Amino acid sequence: MGKIVIRGGKPLFGEVTIHGAKNAVLPILAATVVVGGVHIIENCPELSDVSTTVEILKELGAKVTRCGDKLTIDTTCELSHYIPEKLMRKLRSSIIFMGAVLARNKKAKISSPGGCELGPRPIDLHIKALRELGAKITEEHGYLVCSADSLLGKEIHLDIPSVGATENAMLLAVAAEGTTVIQNAAREPEIEDLALFLNKMGAKILGAGTSTVTVVGRKKLTAAQHRVMPDRIVAATYLCAAAATGGEIIVRDVCPEHLSAVLAVLSDCGCMIQKGSNYIRLCAPKTLLSVSSIKTMPYPGFPTDAQSLFLAMLSKSKGTTIISETIFESRFCVAAELCRMGAKISVDSRVAVVQGVDSLYGACVSAADLRGGAALVVAALGASGKTEINSPHYIYRGYENFEENLKTLGADIAYEE
Ligand code: EPZ
Repeated sequence: MGKIVIRGGKPLFGEVTIHGAKNAVLPILAATVVVGGVHIIENCPELSDVSTTVEILKELGAKVTRCGDKLTIDTTCELSHYIPEKLMRKLRSSIIFMGAVLARNKKAKISSPGGCELGPRPIDLHIKALRELGAKITEEHGYLVCSADSLLGKEIHLDIPSVGATENAMLLAVAAEGTTVIQNAAREPEIEDLALFLNKMGAKILGAGTSTVTVVGRKKLTAAQHRVMPDRIVAATYLCAAAATGGEIIVRDVCPEHLSAVLAVLSDCGCMIQKGSNYIRLCAPKTLLSVSSIKTMPYPGFPTDAQSLFLAMLSKSKGTTIISETIFESRFCVAAELCRMGAKISVDSRVAVVQGVDSLYGACVSAADLRGGAALVVAALGASGKTEINSPHYIYRGYENFEENLKTLGADIAYEE
């Protein structure tokens, strides 16, 4: 299993280039199934979630090769419509293949992706949206057996602006007769990136990134080439690490506008922020100030994926911060591990009260989810002494070259078997 060992207390200085966005590339890889051809996806990070998605593509019959950050996906041959449970359960976002496989094969048999460490991860909105387009979906022995003989575009309203349900609806709508309008769609930048790729394939999708997405179906589609957008949460992670260590860094190849809510809070904590067209420079104060409250919201609100990072960063600050998690049921698991490092955090259901302390100390802790694991790294970098982080495989789901990049910034960090 191995562990990450960090000797904290060293301010981070220097520059880091941000890799392609996990939450953009996963649905884009699924979208390559929609039409046969040779797709080229660039700026594709080497992450375990990407490797699992490539396994699913190969299981379906696609040929996938990697050269550096470029993936070539050949979906020309006839593809299977079945994804085995062992693969579906490895990755929550595998549900995104439901819309894509249905669009291509008019049928699909996939297992439900199951929950994850953030609490139950229902897919009712995905199923409801696809049924509204004409898909027949039955749940048999943990499998979703789907058929889509006649798909008709129509107006769909999502009860929650679900990222995955928006993406699944878009992926199926491109194959539907007529026009689909998705109301209360998720507005995340990753949705825009998926729409950009689908439009390069010949689809006609308007309004991606707003809460009303229009898809004109049955356009002639062909394979496409696309460069994945940068990962805004990975960028936020390095910025929080610099803030937690009183350092000064530049993150390059980012879209600052994707991080507005995060940068606003970092500025309120006393960090000096400088933004360029594709970089952000952060200079941290010696002591971070707490902010009265942080509330996670759908984009463009404060991202739930950055919540654990700020929980860790503000554990060492002056004052008290109240953090409300409105998106997921249990996304404060990391709080208990942070308390082992001297943090003073009390959690009541979806609210955490963080009473800032002067310093954190190293301890033996365990990651239990992707962003919680990254949060432990942020805390350990700012703590005095040695921290061992077990189960680092959670972190490798979403962070490429994490230890190497932090080492370049001056961190004393290493992976040990
Ligand atoms: C995506 O998950 C991201 N994952 C998550 O990032 C991110 O936290 C989340 O969006 C919110 O921004 C990927 O893009 C691969 P949702 P997704 O559907 O699509 C409820 C990370 O760390 N809901 O927007 O699964 C759901 O329970 C990951 O990179 C239903 O009730 O999230 C949640 O409370 C973690 N029924 C809320 O909606 C449904 O059918 C938002 O979930 C679907 C969702």
